[in-house]
Amino acid sequence: MSITSFPEDFVWGVSTSAYQIEGATAADGRLPSIWDTFSADRAEACDHYHRYPDDVRLMKELGMAAYRFSVSWARVFPEGRGKPNAAGLDFYDRLLDEVTAAGITPYATLYHWDLPQALEDRGGWPARDTAERFAEYAAAVHDRIGDRVDTWFTLNEPWVAAFLGYGSGVHAPGRKSAADAFRAAHHMLLGHGLAVQALRAAGAEKVGLVLNIAPVMTPAQVSDFGRELSEEDAAAVARIDALANRQFLEPALRGAYPAELLPVIERHAGLGHVRAGDLETIAQPLDLLGVNYYTPLVVQAQPSEPADPAYPGSEGILFCTIPTAVTAMGWPIVPNCLSLLLGRISREYPGLDLMVTENGADFVDVVTGDGIHDVERISFIEEHLRALRAAIDDGARVRGYLVWTLLDNLEWSDGYQRKFGLVHVDFATQRRRMKDSALWYRDVIRRNGLAETRPRRPTLETVAARAGVSRATVSRVVNGESSVSPEVRTAVMRAVNELGYVPNLAARSLVTRRTNAVALVLSVPRQGADALTSAVVQYVTSLLEGAGKQITLMLADTAESHRRIAAHVEARLADGVVLLPPDRGDILAERLSRTGVPLVLLGKPPIASLVPYVDVDNAGGAVAATEHLLARGRRRIGMVCGPTDLVTVQDRLAGHRTALQRAGLTPHLAPAGDLTRAEGAAATRRLLIEAPSLDAVFAATDQLAIGALQAARELGRRVPDDLAVVGFDDVDAASATTPALTTVRVPVADQALALARLLLSRLEGRHTTSVVLPARLVVRESA
Ligand code: FCB
Repeated sequence: MSITSFPEDFVWGVSTSAYQIEGATAADGRLPSIWDTFSADRAEACDHYHRYPDDVRLMKELGMAAYRFSVSWARVFPEGRGKPNAAGLDFYDRLLDEVTAAGITPYATLYHWDLPQALEDRGGWPARDTAERFAEYAAAVHDRIGDRVDTWFTLNEPWVAAFLGYGSGVHAPGRKSAADAFRAAHHMLLGHGLAVQALRAAGAEKVGLVLNIAPVMTPAQVSDFGRELSEEDAAAVARIDALANRQFLEPALRGAYPAELLPVIERHAGLGHVRAGDLETIAQPLDLLGVNYYTPLVVQAQPSEPADPAYPGSEGILFCTIPTAVTAMGWPIVPNCLSLLLGRISREYPGLDLMVTENGADFVDVVTGDGIHDVERISFIEEHLRALRAAIDDGARVRGYLVWTLLDNLEWSDGYQRKFGLVHVDFATQRRRMKDSALWYRDVIRRNGLAETRPRRPTLETVAARAGVSRATVSRVVNGESSVSPEVRTAVMRAVNELGYVPNLAARSLVTRRTNAVALVLSVPRQGADALTSAVVQYVTSLLEGAGKQITLMLADTAESHRRIAAHVEARLADGVVLLPPDRGDILAERLSRTGVPLVLLGKPPIASLVPYVDVDNAGGAVAATEHLLARGRRRIGMVCGPTDLVTVQDRLAGHRTALQRAGLTPHLAPAGDLTRAEGAAATRRLLIEAPSLDAVFAATDQLAIGALQAARELGRRVPDDLAVVGFDDVDAASATTPALTTVRVPVADQALALARLLLSRLEGRHTTSVVLPARLVVRESA
């Protein structure tokens, strides 16, 4: 087996961050950070604060050479200033003892987005004082653990912290002001410079900065980077590159803002916050630049486009979606952009050492009896490592690679639904389980490289050659056909055993007429499920095509089409079927299941059957929604529930009842005739007339809830003061209502992906059970 090897001193490891794994947010004097204030998610995360010895042991078992973690500022300076909190620092003392004893080199990040709330209350990053406090904090941390930290990183991805935290408000602290965002960015850079000075003064040996740098390109350049651009597109690319990348690279590494960015900053924030001497302070010599790469930024000129609040100054630029494979997060997978990016930085900043400090992917993981076979994550990392290796060949000085991340964790505004870990965490029990990707990465580290080819398995041909028969004969034997003589059968089986041959689909196809085609059957109409339907089409197509299958898309809308689909499957023109049944009255599932062709369904069927399906935890989501209302002190809660012959509605109603029952309350129900806004409004009017003292409404879908908001407005009820409203589904419109709707998020991409994977497992003959994905409450203003 030949190997694509890496330089001898190449550093392999993982990255994590404090807020995302530690939990214990009130332990040992810690006070809230902006994320504790901002996030509605449970704060215990991975409980790493208490379980760190287990987690370090996991890293040791996996052979990690490096561990990049972050320090929680709110543990060290709970009030943001004053005397450092010794008990908070003790934790990092213990952690580092454990890490170094395991032979792992620690890389400490000082700011991974969790500003002490006390400092936000004094103005946060838009205030200059925060930069000074940051340097003080850096010195205090160095004072306690400096003897064991090999490399320091000041900030992690200041673009995200400044522009999502203060610009678009998607991250903590949730401010929406371009002026604040630009000032925050400058003060983060200043804080970086001051902290580097403080660390050097204290004797720190290696200091660096971590940036999220994304190649910026037009859709056409994704497959053809050299492509010439129109003047308008070139300007669009340059503008986003200046905002996202060069706003940080150039001050830190060259001591100047990109010239074309200054007027943009000035227009939004003035330039008063950029004082004489700041840029010299910012441009401290660095030993290492950490590069976090996930996906490129794809843009093009589009004159009418308003600015994206995360990129103030991006008027006339469209952020594009591209038809490539994506992760569950929806991020396009473009590994060669990592080569481009590393090459570019190496050319523009020669002599600078680089490290890929984050790279990894969120995919839906299915826990099976024999492990978590996260093949997509393995190929994602493998392809990016090949791209990284290519960049090294071209002369980039890349010193190491850290996977994001060790554990499934709390992914900022997305909560626990994102799965980036090499290690699976069951958040109910905190049990850790290594995914296949963890074991695969361990082998990469062991051999300091990638296997050029996966070990070759014996094929049908090798068995046929060994047994001296034709491939078709081997195939017949393997498939248990009776038309083979006992002598031939024995000879073939001997060869199979000697070679350790595992029969695969190809072998079977010779006798069972495998078509390599999969039917994707869409029933129309399906009320209000467009996003889900298109996600299913996208994922089923990309995943199954990736596995060498062809997709036959079939519409089930008329009796004639039902007949045609059934005949198609009965004639074995498909190896498997994915069925999206209609809202009610499905007549295909049962008929198709009788053909014996592997079938998977979207949504729990109304009548229990053995056909595996993918659904979300509708009852659990309704419990969470109702409990949220109860926790907010609401006691008289009505439910606009929709037609109860729909399974989804039944489950949401059941969850609602359960939560009320636990609280000793009785339900007030208003059935709506269908799931439209108009029906939601009508049902809410009826509810409020029958029971005027209601103080909350839980609606079975967002559309019904939007109707409820309308009815409340008409009847003069203020939301949420007089009436709290909660919906279900988190459709796009839910965040755009006034007030924005509190709702339960149904993971669309996850369902689609789980469905595709379920069918794949069935096609591979693996035992499968239905998949029920968690539905998560998203708290907004309406409740
Ligand atoms: C990066 C962050 C990290 C994690 C990954 C998915 O931007 O640094 O904390 O959220 O994205």
